[in-house]
Amino acid sequence: MPRLTIDNQEVEVPAGATVLDAARQLGIDIPTLCHMPGMPPATSCMVCVVKVNDKPRLAPSCALKAEDGMRIQSQCDEVLEARRVALELLLAEHVGDCMGPCQLICPAGMNIPLMIRQIRAGGLEDASVTVKRHIALPAVLGRVCHAPCEKGCRRAQADAAVSICLLKRFVADTDLAREQPYLPVRQATTGKKVAIVGAGPTGASAAWHLLQEGHAVTIIDEQGRPGGMLHKIDAGQLAPDVIRAEMDLIVRLGAEFRLGCRVGADVTLDELCRDYDAVLLAVGEASPSAGDLAQKAGLAPQQGKPAVRLAVDRRTFRTSLAGVFAAGGATRAGKHAVLAVADGQAAACAIGQFLAGADVTGPVKPFNVSLGKLLEGEITAFMSSADPAARTQTQPHQPLSPAQARDESARCLHCDCRKADSCRLRQFSGQYGAKPARYRNRQVAFCQRTDHPRLVYESGKCIACGICIRIVEQAGQSPGLCFTGRGFGVTVSIPFNGTIEEAVGGLADQLVSACPTAAWAYRD
Ligand code: SF4
Ligand code: SF4
Ligand code: SF4
Ligand code: FES
Repeated sequence: MPRLTIDNQEVEVPAGATVLDAARQLGIDIPTLCHMPGMPPATSCMVCVVKVNDKPRLAPSCALKAEDGMRIQSQCDEVLEARRVALELLLAEHVGDCMGPCQLICPAGMNIPLMIRQIRAGGLEDASVTVKRHIALPAVLGRVCHAPCEKGCRRAQADAAVSICLLKRFVADTDLAREQPYLPVRQATTGKKVAIVGAGPTGASAAWHLLQEGHAVTIIDEQGRPGGMLHKIDAGQLAPDVIRAEMDLIVRLGAEFRLGCRVGADVTLDELCRDYDAVLLAVGEASPSAGDLAQKAGLAPQQGKPAVRLAVDRRTFRTSLAGVFAAGGATRAGKHAVLAVADGQAAACAIGQFLAGADVTGPVKPFNVSLGKLLEGEITAFMSSADPAARTQTQPHQPLSPAQARDESARCLHCDCRKADSCRLRQFSGQYGAKPARYRNRQVAFCQRTDHPRLVYESGKCIACGICIRIVEQAGQSPGLCFTGRGFGVTVSIPFNGTIEEAVGGLADQLVSACPTAAWAYRD
């Protein structure tokens, strides 16, 4: 029984065990992509490398037999860097988007492709959940958003963008028309209290997210009604009833509003800091008193004293005052309502971190690899599974009918990845800080096989780990799968131009769960 040390921890393993087995016995996390327990090592991904006995060359732990007296380092800088490079090389030719271009562009990060698929499947309640995970005021935004997502929509390269904004409005209006519109579950109370100064879209959005985390929220505004700058929009485009209906939901979620209360006159910022665990200044443009943020927050210059100025870190939303955060129109250029809503969401994240005593970083961007500019002919491949109909036309400010919404949803190209939440290549790339652009040299075009009732095969997402080939081989499935191509172009193919069904038989579920990327995935 060999005894070895990994990261200075001693372990004894059965003869024949690998260093990876030994690490797992110790609870040490080593990433793997091409390793499949019970199968001979493929050593194609090299993300499992470790340093052995201080030798200069790193070795793949999945194929390295544990030996007596070995000294292994699995977490030193050299190893972490080698894993990052291995991941970047796997991403160099990768053909896929973890998130759809629309979602990447949406300032609030709404999962647009998922919402569209839910509309298409008739799951409007699910679609409300998807929308409201990121957007507190979707009926409002469905009427006033400048829709940057549509400018990035891939469908525009074929004819015209999907009508994303009106689809979101359709979901939100349908929800508001229900007797019980959707309200998210609030986590157990944290006992923490947040004061939000400003009941415009930034403040309302921050409240929506903070309440869900279990914090108590009081929104203070000098106006007699919530909504702030939204009330400046023409009522033909945004009726006050819509603002009221969505603000009511924030009250029903638990927010307390103190309207007609002016910070600096009726209550001071010092008092708010004393009575609350955190304060968010979301004064936007609602305050008639022009000037800098300090003035808007009620910190008016006092005679004989230097003017107070509040500096704001736009990443963490912290101001120069402890426990005071600021977001929204008063802190940045760009006055679009969706930016205000996105700011509220991001500031709530930062405040949540602060209240939990964690590092205040603001939201962390999820890892994403993008197709980038489409290669010639690629848009045709995307269009093959979408409805070729033209974009639904509506009169200005008019909604989509249910039939129009269904038809419009069928135009979406499903650009996002089917395994974005479970892909191990994505998970490790995020964990190791891989930069997909570092060795990027994509020459292979997007290609999708859909000749199976449940499966999709996307060769551009294959990292040639060989796991699927070995699974069908072990099961004696004929004709099975094989590798074709050379160098970076190696991928899995079906011999003799067979169908997926013939190649994989009843192994569909096994392939989807074992494939470390979304090369093998369920259709939806
Ligand atoms: S296979 Fe993984 S890395 Fe590739 S696009 Fe999908 S989620 Fe992203
Ligand atoms: S086609 Fe669909 S998934 Fe692709 S960018 Fe447009 S809305 Fe998003
Ligand atoms: S398709 Fe097969 S060879 Fe390619 S990544 Fe998935 S399991 Fe590995
Ligand atoms: S080389 Fe070890 S998991 Fe891929």
